[in-house]
Amino acid sequence: RVRPVILAGGSGTRLWPVSRARHPKQFQPLAGADGLFAQTLARARALGGADPIVVCNEEHRFLAAEALRDAGMDGARILLEPAGRDTAPAIALAACEARALDGDPVLAVLPADHAITDHGAFARAVARAVPHADAGWLVTFGVTPTGPETGYGYIRVAPGEGPRRVEAFTEKPDRATAERYLADGGHYWNSGMFVFRASAGLDALGAHAPAVLSAVEAAHAERAPDRDFVRVGEAAFGEAPAVSFDRAVMERTDTAVMVPFDAGWRDVGSWRAVWEHARETGAADADGNVVSGEVAAHDVHNSLIHAESRVVGAVGLDGHLIAETPDAVLVAPLDRAQDVRPVVDALRRAG
Ligand code: GDD
Ligand code: MG
Repeated sequence: RVRPVILAGGSGTRLWPVSRARHPKQFQPLAGADGLFAQTLARARALGGADPIVVCNEEHRFLAAEALRDAGMDGARILLEPAGRDTAPAIALAACEARALDGDPVLAVLPADHAITDHGAFARAVARAVPHADAGWLVTFGVTPTGPETGYGYIRVAPGEGPRRVEAFTEKPDRATAERYLADGGHYWNSGMFVFRASAGLDALGAHAPAVLSAVEAAHAERAPDRDFVRVGEAAFGEAPAVSFDRAVMERTDTAVMVPFDAGWRDVGSWRAVWEHARETGAADADGNVVSGEVAAHDVHNSLIHAESRVVGAVGLDGHLIAETPDAVLVAPLDRAQDVRPVVDALRRAG
């Protein structure tokens, strides 16, 4: 039985103002669809294994608990990080908990910031990964790249089809390197999901990131369950270096296998990606608009209008975003909406 592990610690700044530190994107309904966390739970369920282990920060524990309750997953565990230390410590913590709960299960590590349209294809890809995980490999899932994105990891494999040994893994290369990878061929984007035995993940962390493993093991040894929540030693966890699993392990290991995966995977980290995803899943109207809330639009095309608390009127827009919340509104061309960070930083400085 596969044990899903859901990473839900990020705050999704690029989806401001709907995504906020207190209410990050994974817990928000976006463009009329379920929140990404709820979608990830549905994906976890499609695996037909145990209820998930969720790793998130203290602030979001009730949002996570409520979504798990709505999904009827009462066998879930919610591990609360005293502080966000990136994904290597988060995954280490989940692996320690899984080992304590189930012995040595195969884990399916799922980020909560993706959308996958075909749950059946996803479950089949994980099923293909499980025998490799059983044999001790770290399995990652490769998406055919469509451009030289610099926000992803790149996996190099030998030509062929089906699962293949990873020859090299490069996390977030610069633009020129990503362009070279695309020109060379033989490279896939890392989807950010991993399947491995708890012991294989912990051994790899021990070999390549011993400071992460020792800090997290110490923190986990001090754990204190509180209903569905599990708190761990704060001082010990704080000793863990902040590093992603991709850099800590995937760039260094030589025991990784890639399973190709092309089932409508999308990182919905920007407003444009939210709009594209909604359009692909049939949530757009005949003018290409994706609208939620009370919106009156005239001669508006290919736009995303999100109204939470007021009536929003729009005239003569094409390719635009309006995101309205009770205390903040963002207006931008959809193509520029990922550049919202300076606005958020300026507001933060202004208090
Ligand atoms: N619990 C917890 N704690 N979760 C975290 C933390 C943390 O400290 N940091 C990030 N996460 C969660 C995020 O919420 C997200 O669901 C997932 O872990 C991945 O983190 P991101 O910060 O979104 O990573 P990324 O998108 O930059 O890169 C990863 O995903 C790409 C695909 O979208 C990497 O795996 C790349 O190689 C990959 O291409
Ligand atoms: Mg991400």
